[in-house]
Amino acid sequence: MNAFDATWASTIAGSDAQLELHDLRLRIRPVRADDKALIREAFTRLSERSRYLRFFTPMHGLTEPMLTALTEVDYIDRFAWVALACEGDHEALAGVARYVRLEEPRSAEVALTVVDPYQGRGIGHLLLNALVLAAVQAGLTRFEGEILGENLAIRAVLADVGAELRLSERGSLRFAFDLAPRADALRAHPVYDVLHQLALGASVASPAEPWPCGVSRPTHFA
Ligand SMILES: CC(C)(COP(=O)(O)OP(=O)(O)OC[C@H]1O[C@@H](n2cnc3c(N)ncnc32)[C@H](O)[C@@H]1OP(=O)(O)O)[C@@H](O)C(=O)NCCC(=O)NCCS
Repeated sequence: MNAFDATWASTIAGSDAQLELHDLRLRIRPVRADDKALIREAFTRLSERSRYLRFFTPMHGLTEPMLTALTEVDYIDRFAWVALACEGDHEALAGVARYVRLEEPRSAEVALTVVDPYQGRGIGHLLLNALVLAAVQAGLTRFEGEILGENLAIRAVLADVGAELRLSERGSLRFAFDLAPRADALRAHPVYDVLHQLALGASVASPAEPWPCGVSRPTHFA
């Protein structure tokens, strides 16, 4: 990790935004090492269908090594935004969008998950757009990934960002899109300002009312 990377990692690790999306109040921040319980709990709320669409195989639980890989990111080559919603007096995970930098260092593989009760409410679009803006700051120029052809929800989200799809050798679909045109198009989007500030490492609340449930602040980043 060079000096720029280390500075960038500590900057983005501190970003935190609150925003309204239709009828939902959401908090978006980078994933943290202490999110294991949050992610384990969210996995139990994913339907079998959602698990299959995300992992391409029936999944009954997350192993400790998987939880470590999902939460202990370096914010440079491996990064994820989490979207949190208030359920009563505690925060629950609504969705995660992550990238892992590929050997071609300007490209990254992307995956998106929204927990079933929160699907179809715009969080997938929001998180992917937030990930695009963070990735641009991290020097990435292209996102790619793999989806199942039957996954119409992710296809709708990817169509919105102008992704190209092609059939893979395994019968799934590979997608890819350039980040710069999407980041430009996002400037006209109503939540652009919040997502842009977030991608620059800021803490921003829009609206400014206090977050209605408890927040545990990070004391460090892993
Ligand atoms: C795919 C996924 C991330 C999308 O997140 P989301 O929050 O539900 O997505 P959004 O609400 O932002 O948008 C979903 C879009 O799909 C559309 N959609 C949903 N189900 C659909 C269906 N069965 N047929 C056609 N369109 C569908 C919605 O109408 C919406 O369209 P829009 O672009 O016109 O708004 C989420 O459904 C999910 O986590 N699925 C399980 C895991 C997964 O498939 N991950 C992707 C593989 S990496």
